Amino acid sequence: MKLQHVDVHNAITVLSSALDLVGVDEVMHGKRVAVMARAIAMHLGWPEPECLSILYAGMLHDCGVSKIHEHRQLTATLEWEGAEEHCIRGADFLSDCQPLSHLSAEIRYHHTRWERLLELPVDPRIRLRANLLFLADRVDVLQAPLLNSSMILIEYPAIIARIKTLSGLLFAPELVDVFSEIADVEAFWLAMEPDYLDEDLRRIGRDIQAAMLGIPALKELARLFSRVVDAKSPYTVEHSQRVALIARQLAADFGVDDYTLDQVEIAGLLHDIGKLRVSEDIIDKPGMLTPEERAIMHRHSYDTFRILQRVFEDSKIPVWAGFHHETLIGDGYPFKNANQELDLECRIIAVADIFQALAQERPYRHTMTLAYILNDIQSRVTAGRLDGDVVAKLTANAEHYYRLAVA
Ligand SMILES: [Fe+2]
Ligand SMILES: [Fe+2]
Ligand SMILES: [Fe+2]
Repeated sequence: MKLQHVDVHNAITVLSSALDLVGVDEVMHGKRVAVMARAIAMHLGWPEPECLSILYAGMLHDCGVSKIHEHRQLTATLEWEGAEEHCIRGADFLSDCQPLSHLSAEIRYHHTRWERLLELPVDPRIRLRANLLFLADRVDVLQAPLLNSSMILIEYPAIIARIKTLSGLLFAPELVDVFSEIADVEAFWLAMEPDYLDEDLRRIGRDIQAAMLGIPALKELARLFSRVVDAKSPYTVEHSQRVALIARQLAADFGVDDYTLDQVEIAGLLHDIGKLRVSEDIIDKPGMLTPEERAIMHRHSYDTFRILQRVFEDSKIPVWAGFHHETLIGDGYPFKNANQELDLECRIIAVADIFQALAQERPYRHTMTLAYILNDIQSRVTAGRLDGDVVAKLTANAEHYYRLAVA
């Protein structure tokens, strides 16, 4: 079946799970914020589309956080002086992504105190929506350490009391009032368990007439997530975008049709989405990785595969993206697939990935000259790992491909 449209609800839910992986052992933050914010919005009597869009804003609110260290700081205290940065970054990413650009302004202010927001020239509707995200976000910081035990059922009145003391200062009084009312029952907190959250999100998706995203919108969404992934490290700036560009061009050199080219591009943009789970301490490590660090690093392409399978059910995108570390002789990872099992598109993305990475500086080496890169890639063909035909196309137009690879 041909991929034409993807359900927006499912796409945002799944891709936000990838964002939540930045939390490493704390991986449902975005979803909990989303569900709490929507519950408060519903109680405030907001129209259905507003409640739905606050749900999506909740799931995406931390798209400016790519680094595990930043995530930790944001969840360590109620107010962190460095919090503004990820709000600006996230708003910037979203404003460039047409299908989600309407969420940009509220993400921009989701760590701004209410008393400060009132002084800023911000639309009152955005003000309240941003502050609702802030409230749900901070409630989650208070509840997260208690969620693995039944302690939350004992401690929740203290959380409500704490939030009440911040009414008018950090949070809008009307939001605090509604929160205090609806959170004063066990059910509010028990609904935060991972299985129940997933179930509730699925049910919401079933009950609404979800908008469908066509290929142009999917490309924008893929670009947004590629930027989040590439922001993990100063060494990988634009890596995914450039891999996508190179892969698309290589596929075009093979005479692939436009429909497939778009899918190659999306696969290229998202091939490293599984890296969101890998600590930047490993990605930026200047020396050799320990066996354990290598194992953590190596799981990223499998995570990519599983994440994309849930978004692009009827498409080859998960395979083309998830197989980018496979080799023709079957000594890659994570499936150890070999020659005949690798589509042309898989081979193309594998070549594009290595070529771009070699053209970029890495913590353990400098950038390399084009001649050196071509030599390196050719040796991988000789070793039977990369596809000779794909590399031949690249070599035939090497200068052009090198320009696509470097910023
Ligand atoms: Fe957050
Ligand atoms: Fe990779
Ligand atoms: Fe990559």
